[in-house]
Amino acid sequence: MGSIAIYPGSFDPVTNGHLDIVERASRVFDRVIMAVIVNPNKAGFFPLTERRQLLCQVTAHLTNVEIDAFSGLLVDYARQQGARAVVKGLRSPADCEAELQMARLNHMMAPEVETFLMASQPGWVHVSSSFVREIARLGGDISSLVAPSVLTSIQSKLKAMREEK
Ligand code: PNS
Repeated sequence: MGSIAIYPGSFDPVTNGHLDIVERASRVFDRVIMAVIVNPNKAGFFPLTERRQLLCQVTAHLTNVEIDAFSGLLVDYARQQGARAVVKGLRSPADCEAELQMARLNHMMAPEVETFLMASQPGWVHVSSSFVREIARLGGDISSLVAPSVLTSIQSKLKAMREEK
């Protein structure tokens, strides 16, 4: 069995920063599973199915990347998938603090699952899903921050939201 890494996140929506991390991780691990967290208490901007669809579209060129969703503990999901690695992107010292805490707690719960914290490339350190959503909602240009399919989906979602009001 080859090496399997889980790349977990909300991916609401997937950004070029996420894409950079998964492209690089896919060159190191035999399989990378991008796993969308299912939070029944939080609707999010895009529903789970659309987040997954967008992830499938933007990773279509990466043959060893799969898209899935999970609920519950990340380490339980990793064990279920037979994964020994969790991959995360680090943009800033603030990310670092939170990710170190999660990596240590996950290690406490599942010592056989290692967390690999990958440094985001300088071009993407300022990109987050929440700011992408906010900039788009306020009419700013996000075309350099997300893939074209994500841009189109955000624009149609915002249009539908405006029409609902
Ligand atoms: O994209 P996000 O929202 O920063 O991703 C956060 C995520 C999904 C990676 C994190 O919340 C997580 O791992 N949730 C699963 C629940 C869990 O295992 N919690 C204990 C963490 S120590």
